Amino acid sequence: MSILVTGGAGFIGSNFIIDWFKTSNEEVINLDKLTYAANLSNLDSIHASSFPYTFIEGDICDTDLIDSILTKHNIRAVVNFAAESHVDRSIKNPDIFLQTNVIGTSRLLDAFNRHWVNNKESLDLNFIFLHVSTDEVFGDLGIDDKPFKESNPYLPNSPYSASKASSDHISRAYHQTYNLPVIISNCSNNYGAYQFPEKLIPLVISNALNNKSINIYGDGHQIRDWLHVSDHCSALRAILSNGIPGETYNIGGNAEKRNIDVVNTICDILDKSKPREDLRSYKEQITFIKDRPGHDRRYAVDCSKLENSLNWKQDESFLTGLEKTIQWYLTNSDWLDGVKNKDYGEWIRDQYGK
Ligand code: NAD
Ligand code: DAU
Repeated sequence: MSILVTGGAGFIGSNFIIDWFKTSNEEVINLDKLTYAANLSNLDSIHASSFPYTFIEGDICDTDLIDSILTKHNIRAVVNFAAESHVDRSIKNPDIFLQTNVIGTSRLLDAFNRHWVNNKESLDLNFIFLHVSTDEVFGDLGIDDKPFKESNPYLPNSPYSASKASSDHISRAYHQTYNLPVIISNCSNNYGAYQFPEKLIPLVISNALNNKSINIYGDGHQIRDWLHVSDHCSALRAILSNGIPGETYNIGGNAEKRNIDVVNTICDILDKSKPREDLRSYKEQITFIKDRPGHDRRYAVDCSKLENSLNWKQDESFLTGLEKTIQWYLTNSDWLDGVKNKDYGEWIRDQYGK
């Protein structure tokens, strides 16, 4: 049997596949549409290995393709990473977010449901559809509010988070209606190797090193809860192995930081590890710009359910994870240059006006 990873050429999906083969020999089928956010070279080490791995270029909206993959590769589990994932892009162009995140997830669930019904007697009972979602579905916390629990109401504020909330609801409905073994995970902000430089941390590193403005939306006092991607991957493995169908699990880093503090910490680390030629601080490049529309002020995740019921704990603190991440981008400047094509330049000009 095999697992189907969708969106496995993106940031978290490629980290998940690399991580998977550190502890498992179960075959992975990676289905990815190869949008701007994908980078197959993230998986060069896997392509060069003899691990049981197949890449298929395709869309999760393509029902015929999904049906054939599920049958041909004897899929027992789906880990659904495939999505449009950037909030700012969803504000400029919501349509593709609805297409992939809502319609795509719904078609994938429907195909997996048919496959499960046809095979649940003959294959063993390890079927799981793990839908990888976000803490943003819970909306915005006030400074004194308790961190999000799994039972919090859904109050998404951006087209991105609304599309992920819809995909969570349809995933839940397939469990409630058809008893399909679905689990949903809701994770906080990830960072680490291979993250596309449109998201805060890799964008700040890239702009700092290229002597460009480091742009902070609004006052920079918005708070995010940061988790190193390797800890997200270990949480997903724990959920796949021992999670209960029908349940949802929050995943978080217990690392609430204001954006301005994240940016200052990146500048401090770079000042030491890669000082500017003029020996002045990278902080001089910080510029406060117009705020993101509907910008959520604070996210914080209570992941005690995952810690207590599945014995998961994170390995990286924010500082150790950030130092490793910055070191990775310094060592892999070719990767960073390689993803900055014409489309990327257009996105940056459109978003930041330079
Ligand atoms: P990403 O944008 O880096 O990668 C998304 C991948 O999905 C890309 O490889 C892209 O080509 C692929 N894809 C997009 N549309 C597709 C389609 N229609 N069919 C097949 N493949 C398609 O995203 P990421 O940051 O790796 O996030 C992965 C998942 O995790 C997303 O579902 C996201 O909502 C969720 N998530 C992300 C974070 C985070 O901080 N990045 C946190 C919590 C949850
Ligand atoms: O919370 C989980 C979510 O985290 C995921 O579901 C999303 O896929 C992922 O993109 C991320 O969403 P955010 O909007 O929180 O991440 P982003 O890196 O875009 O922004 C982090 C914070 O930094 C946010 O408050 C906006 C701010 N920001 C971002 C950019 C790109 C800036 O101040 N300047 C910037 O240039």
